[in-house]
Amino acid sequence: MSQSYAPTPEFTEQAVGQAALYDEAAADHQGFWARQARERISWDTDFEQALDWSQAPFATWFAGGRLNASVNCVDRHVDAGNGDRVAIHFEGEGGDTRTITYADLQKEVAKAANALTELGVGHGDRVAIYLPMIPEAVIAMLACARLGAPHSVVFGGFSAEALHTRIADADAKVVITADGQFRRGKPAPLKAAVDAAIDHGDDESPVETVLVVQRAQNDVEWVEGRDRWWHDVVDGQSETHEAQAHDAEHPLFILYTSGTTGKPKGIFHTTGGYLTQVAYTNAVVHDLHPESDVYWCTADIGWVTGHSYIVYGPLANGATQVLYEGTPNTPHEGRFWEIVQKYGVSILYTAPTAIRTFMKWGDDIPAKYDLSSIRVLGSVGEPINPEAWRWYREHIGGGTAPIVDTWWQTETGGIMISPLPGVTELEPGSAQRPIPGISAEILDDEGQPFTEPEKVGYLVLTKPWPAMLRGIWGDPERYKDTYWSRFGPEYYFAGDGAKYDEAGNIWLLGRVDDVMNVSGHRLSTAEIESALVSHSSVAEAAVVGAADETTGQAVCAFVILREGAEDAGDETVQELREHVAKEIGPIAKPRQVMVVPELPKTRSGKIMRRLLKDVAENREVGDVTTLADSSVMQLIQDGLKE
Ligand code: WT7
Repeated sequence: MSQSYAPTPEFTEQAVGQAALYDEAAADHQGFWARQARERISWDTDFEQALDWSQAPFATWFAGGRLNASVNCVDRHVDAGNGDRVAIHFEGEGGDTRTITYADLQKEVAKAANALTELGVGHGDRVAIYLPMIPEAVIAMLACARLGAPHSVVFGGFSAEALHTRIADADAKVVITADGQFRRGKPAPLKAAVDAAIDHGDDESPVETVLVVQRAQNDVEWVEGRDRWWHDVVDGQSETHEAQAHDAEHPLFILYTSGTTGKPKGIFHTTGGYLTQVAYTNAVVHDLHPESDVYWCTADIGWVTGHSYIVYGPLANGATQVLYEGTPNTPHEGRFWEIVQKYGVSILYTAPTAIRTFMKWGDDIPAKYDLSSIRVLGSVGEPINPEAWRWYREHIGGGTAPIVDTWWQTETGGIMISPLPGVTELEPGSAQRPIPGISAEILDDEGQPFTEPEKVGYLVLTKPWPAMLRGIWGDPERYKDTYWSRFGPEYYFAGDGAKYDEAGNIWLLGRVDDVMNVSGHRLSTAEIESALVSHSSVAEAAVVGAADETTGQAVCAFVILREGAEDAGDETVQELREHVAKEIGPIAKPRQVMVVPELPKTRSGKIMRRLLKDVAENREVGDVTTLADSSVMQLIQDGLKE
């Protein structure tokens, strides 16, 4: 058995999460969540029922309840006398800073809500947000929430093509973007992608207005009548805005994520249940004490982690947090630790891929800074290997900070499986057990739950939870098929492999479907394959996620060129990598592209990715007997050796 880490009595004593929560939730699941909803969230109208599951798998949480998420995240803290508390310490990549108190945030959100109203955005209208990590991103999200206009944030690293698909699917009326963003010390364009996404072939765009934040002083193309500067429309607005309450089940946002097909899924979340769970988990899992902590989640708001643990959870709790625009190594590799020292960050929530990168850069870098303010560390996005876990605790957490390894998904909305700091004896590498209020099991191939240690199965969630997705935007059938049919309607199929250890801890083992996890970002093999075959030289493509020391998995592509297309070696490879970046975004760029004469297929024509993964991971190729042509693998390998 590996070494585990018991909490210290001092930590336990002050911890927000207490062991008794497990028993309380087990005894009365709905009563437990109703209490969390009433204690952590302010309702304009109280709800009548915690959960209505009669239309399963379509859940109604907190029926009859009415609330405003934006008021919960901003106004009520000002009303409670905390208007002077810092909500956001903004740190630009270049070192420019802004301090935004809750009172400031209230004014900014009110002005933005008034501006959106003037632009014709109302209850139920969708707004796309394509912004860098600047305060306006948070302000824009909260302004939409205030109006009951679901936002669809698109990660700033996605391409015009990806943005186009997302705008069209959500039928967004307004896009909020910036004239550029600072990446690695340089202003990079952003608005040009919006222009290209709107001006896309023959189909008419739903977008009426593009609201542009001035961030990088880049020159931008301007479409009169459509494009408006944020400062022109927002700055002169009234600093007050009377918010209406929305139904607990009113959609709060749509967020696209990769599935097993080429088409991204618009996961949508609603208001009351989502806000309850993200506030609760941010409090008990991160051990947030809003009056004294400085919290920093390093995710981008373009991902669910940014939605739940930068915007809605911490702000609902009245936290003080750091918002950082840039990359961890601009202008130097100590940038994160410089920020921790500067603001006295006490809770840090980041991803294993970042931790492994810091390990690679060397122990001496964090050692140069005073990190003694840190008291809780979090990990999210992929399994954290025990070696990285121990390094994180030792070199960032002063050898004492508890680490919470949090398993969840875009679909779950909030943290589901994680230790509770101060309660759980920590086991490096394992997310351990469902938090109070959440129920999970592991099933075998036949759909039978089991508890034997070390046997590998499928992770399922066995009870509805407040922040669960309410569906896939515009596609209820796909929602049922993807999540509720694999093992029957009583099990939510998460798509992750899992096992128990001897102590009953859950270990997450990665995706069991054709979804890859690269640096904690979800990418679908099918999506990258379709990007590759959209290139004029590619006839066929197969993509696999191969193990990578830093990024967890890396994209490896195998392509067959078209008849007549010239294989110009490296040049072809570079061109195809760039093509994927252009079609999807730089995050999807394959680490390797291998030009091959054939792809391994079964007799029914299904590509055997398992064999390609063996090649990509430099392993001896496994069983080839089910291949239609068993010599194909030899052919592929001979070709690659040349
Ligand atoms: C997938 C969800 C969770 C928000 C960021 C990613 C993997 C996530 C862990 C963890 C092992 C993890 C799973 C999951 N994953 N956290 N702590 N341990 N695996 O959200 O893009 O929706 O991806 O990320 O495979 O299914 P996402």
